[in-house]
Amino acid sequence: MSHHFDALVIGGGVVGLSVAWRAARRGMKVAVIDPAPASGASHAAAGMLAPVSEVTYTEEPLLRLGLASLARWPAFAAELAEDGGLDLDYRADGTLDVAFGADDLAALDELASFVEKLGLPAERLTGRECRRLEPMLAPSVRGGLLAGGDAWVDPRRVTRALLTALERRGGALVRCRVAGLETAGERGAATGAGPAPGPAAGPGAGSDAGGAAEAGVLRVTGVRLATGETVAASRVILAAGAWSGTLEGLPPEAAPPVRPIKGQIMRLRSPSPMLRHCVRGVVHGSPVYLVPRGDGEVVVGATQEEMGFDTRVTAGGLWELLRDARELVPGVTELEVADVVAGLRPGTPDNLPLVGPTSVPGLSLATGHHRGGVLLAPLTAELCLGETDEELSTICSPLRFHGQPRFQERR
Ligand code: GLY
Repeated sequence: MSHHFDALVIGGGVVGLSVAWRAARRGMKVAVIDPAPASGASHAAAGMLAPVSEVTYTEEPLLRLGLASLARWPAFAAELAEDGGLDLDYRADGTLDVAFGADDLAALDELASFVEKLGLPAERLTGRECRRLEPMLAPSVRGGLLAGGDAWVDPRRVTRALLTALERRGGALVRCRVAGLETAGERGAATGAGPAPGPAAGPGAGSDAGGAAEAGVLRVTGVRLATGETVAASRVILAAGAWSGTLEGLPPEAAPPVRPIKGQIMRLRSPSPMLRHCVRGVVHGSPVYLVPRGDGEVVVGATQEEMGFDTRVTAGGLWELLRDARELVPGVTELEVADVVAGLRPGTPDNLPLVGPTSVPGLSLATGHHRGGVLLAPLTAELCLGETDEELSTICSPLRFHGQPRFQERR
């Protein structure tokens, strides 16, 4: 492969594929490199587009990102369904957050006023009203909050559509492992390592190779594949999820501080749709959610475990999910188990994603999306292409960790 690409995206999950598809739509020459695309965290994801229900509302920057991306989802889904030739099972019927005890009810009241303050639809419901909406809910549910703005999508359909859409728009998919980054120049040469966030490295920069080449400063020039081949690009976008910090040749100052956060999830099958909304609640102190699909499938998720790169599905993990889901919707135990899977979310020290140019010219990041990769994919694509406002770019900028102890040293 002797071509020169405008952009190479390392990682074919929902984030990497979205960035590449949108870049291809803009006429960029782009390729995604992944030995097994759509098989990581995106394969395990539930697909909730639920910025309010998914964050602690003290995490305001994350909420802002989530709301901005949610607003982009309808157009993104429509264009993707068209380019990908596939219905995404996009539904916008809202999340029903339910409560059992007095503490949970008080938390829902607080959440309701917060959601209303944001100008989003929120309806506080009694237990009876909840059961009227969702007759399968447990009789012990005492109240709920319907966050009517929340939506969800089938992530497996999304990645399948993205693969088709990328190809249709002229993008390439290279099914190969990346052995390392190719670089030119030297660390610390000429102007010195670690340029401050400025115009050349700013989030809006379309190609961040900049003028650094002339100065002899270290820059990323492409990737080396496991086959030994090298592929050159003006820009490499690292979107390898939880693995993004482990790439060989990654300049330490640009290594993303991501860590794997394991999530185990179950897919159950019901002969007829069991729920109409996403249903969630806190049981025994841990949150559990049920996401219904159009075909009657119900996704139950998810655990949050810090176990390194461990993707085993465990008896304890599944037991916890079923135990908690049964408290919300007792009938789930009657359903057939269709699939169990574990994925690794890329967590960051501040729970915010890492999107945009790094301090190393030619290298951008699109990782660290933790629980929100599917939700944040449309916004991430825009940020990577320098198309959205500076405030959101700044929230996600990898440069915020510049100069801090690196991931490798903290592990
Ligand atoms: N967004 C759902 C989860 O990460 O479990």
